[in-house]
Amino acid sequence: MKKNFWEKIRKKKGFTCLAPMADVTDIAFRQIIAKYSRHGLPGQGKTGGGPDVFWTEFVAADGIASLKGRKPLLKDLEFSKKEKPIVAQIFGSKPENIETTCRIISELGFDGIDLNMGCPDRKVEKQGAGSAMMKNPKIAREVIKAAKRGAPNLPISVKTRIGYNKIDYQNWLTEVLAEKPVALTIHLRTRKEMSKVDAHWELAKEISEFVRIIDKEVVLIANGDIKSPKDGREKIKNTKFEGVMIGRGIFGNPWLFDSRLENGGGTLDLQKGSSSVSISKKLKVLVEHTKLFNKLLKNQKNFAVMKKHFKAYVNGFDGAKELRNELMQCNTEKEVEKIIKDYLATL
Ligand SMILES: Cc1cc2nc3c(=O)[nH]c(=O)nc-3n(C[C@H](O)[C@H](O)[C@H](O)COP(=O)(O)O)c2cc1C
Repeated sequence: MKKNFWEKIRKKKGFTCLAPMADVTDIAFRQIIAKYSRHGLPGQGKTGGGPDVFWTEFVAADGIASLKGRKPLLKDLEFSKKEKPIVAQIFGSKPENIETTCRIISELGFDGIDLNMGCPDRKVEKQGAGSAMMKNPKIAREVIKAAKRGAPNLPISVKTRIGYNKIDYQNWLTEVLAEKPVALTIHLRTRKEMSKVDAHWELAKEISEFVRIIDKEVVLIANGDIKSPKDGREKIKNTKFEGVMIGRGIFGNPWLFDSRLENGGGTLDLQKGSSSVSISKKLKVLVEHTKLFNKLLKNQKNFAVMKKHFKAYVNGFDGAKELRNELMQCNTEKEVEKIIKDYLATL
């Protein structure tokens, strides 16, 4: 089993991962994040930053494994060198399709493969995948075994939750760990809680210690409501978690992992502070992101995907609401560019 990539990552205590988010963390947004989080603001030199590991959006193993479905889905697995190291996330409950998919993915240059065992989406659960895995640990174990058969040279990891209807992680995690995944990400909520309640950070210590008793080696990553790398490091202090995964905190904030912006909690305050990002900078990046989306994903994803980003970028300053409303009507890159240009001229 090739563990090198995770072994290197875990040396950095409190390492950071970008969460997989369908129709959000696509190749265009990942490249924007890599550009602004890893190298700091243009003109200010390289400062490091993160994330230490990128994740792709999840991809259906049943689709990749079928000749017909494969081509469009492989587009979702494209990445550039800037996003390395990168883990491909898949979902599925048919071991034979998981094995085929992992074999295919192992040829694509990924650093690891992650198995989704926590998605609450009904379409995913209907296939027995995502969170439904928690109700069928036997299949979950078969799926991990199949992934290892398909990609024996890549580290296989699992991302899951702390129970289905109620907090009940002992049996479930024991089953998962019996198959020796190289890394385990725990979203500190149950399936039933979706993302509607606060993540159970009060249980982080006990859950992480439970995992460590069973498995001394697994790379342990915590997820849920983390606002910034600094917030994450605070949250995992005194637990056995080694790294953190951040999802929604990245919305409209591709600077999130830039280590120089961590004073003050790492979240960007648009109005004050020399290390914060100005409104005009944010809006210019919104345009850059839109252009990159069109360049890389035009034939694959609907332009509406960008509207989630517009809402997030355009927030917290005078006139944001009106500007947002205008952007929500846009259907082309040109329209977006013009609206932002006109707005910037008023500043
Ligand atoms: C829009 C959206 C899409 C998501 N897609 C995925 C996915 O493809 N795979 C996955 O494992 N989790 C997915 N998640 C869950 C996140 O990875 C993460 O576990 C969750 O948002 C909690 O972390 P956070 O509080 O930092 O956002 C998604 C979440 C959101 C908001």
